Amino acid sequence: MRISFRAPAVLLACVLATGVSEASPLSVDQKVRNALQLDQNASNGKKLYATHCAQCHGEQALGSAANLIPSLAGQRRAYLVKQLADFSELERDSRPMHAVVSKPELASEQAWADLSGYLNSLPRTSFPQTGDGRGLELGEAIFQDQCASCHEQDARGDDDGFTPSLRDQHYAYLVRQVRSIGTWHRLNVDANLVRYLDSLDTEEATAVADYLSRMRGPIKDHDKMNSDGTVNN
Ligand code: HEC
Ligand code: HEC
Repeated sequence: MRISFRAPAVLLACVLATGVSEASPLSVDQKVRNALQLDQNASNGKKLYATHCAQCHGEQALGSAANLIPSLAGQRRAYLVKQLADFSELERDSRPMHAVVSKPELASEQAWADLSGYLNSLPRTSFPQTGDGRGLELGEAIFQDQCASCHEQDARGDDDGFTPSLRDQHYAYLVRQVRSIGTWHRLNVDANLVRYLDSLDTEEATAVADYLSRMRGPIKDHDKMNSDGTVNN
């Protein structure tokens, strides 16, 4: 059984003609499900993080825009577990992450559960890198029309669909991932999503990433979201 997500009508309409899902090894999805059922030991997660991850992702897990390293603080637990499993099984490209997750003390479902529980609990206090601000209206229109059905209106994501939060994330990293998913650098992803992201041209991809990079902080009240994606406190 594959991990599935809710496809919006517009996506289905675009891709129904070609919409055959690529098979992915069952073992990855099974490992993800197993890890999600384990008790999380956040204090072990904290220890593992300090030893193996902080040097790249930062002490507070806020990432590094210049090095295209994502912020992980407050990211959804189910999504984090799935990404660690995907890196571990070479379902997602990234030499540095492959090297990390193949260390014996990190190559277990329990380690993924502990790390993901810890990271999910961290406050999202980042000030991510943004784009040049010129395409925000286009970015908002694309996001609300084509992405919010899965990622939610305020980009908070969804655990059931393994859908990441796209809030508090660095602009350049977001652009790169739109391209990476669109060119099959992440294999354990629905084929429809790949085709869909590949259909965005450069202006559209950078506009939507810029709009997203301005969605910051914890969710307080959807009605207070400004048109540029920032949230009033
Ligand atoms: C040598 C640097 C380095 C180290 C050490 C490192 N990472 Fe990463 N990590 C990266 C880079 C670079 C990426 C972006 C990969 C890409 O472009 O797809 C990444 C991506 C990720 C992602 C995907 C996030 C997303 O939004 O999809 C997760 C989760 C992650 N790392 C967790 C960890 C954890 C947990 C550790 C420690 C066990 C760790 N990383 C250690 C460099 C590193
Ligand atoms: C059908 C549901 C769906 C739609 C529509 C969708 N996404 Fe996603 N998106 C996902 C899922 C699920 C993932 C996680 C993929 C994985 O597990 O590697 C994802 C991952 C991403 C990532 C990677 C985040 C990270 O931290 O690495 C980005 C960026 C992204 N989506 C942007 C978009 C944009 C922009 C749109 C609209 C143009 C969009 N998505 C539309 C479901 C969706």
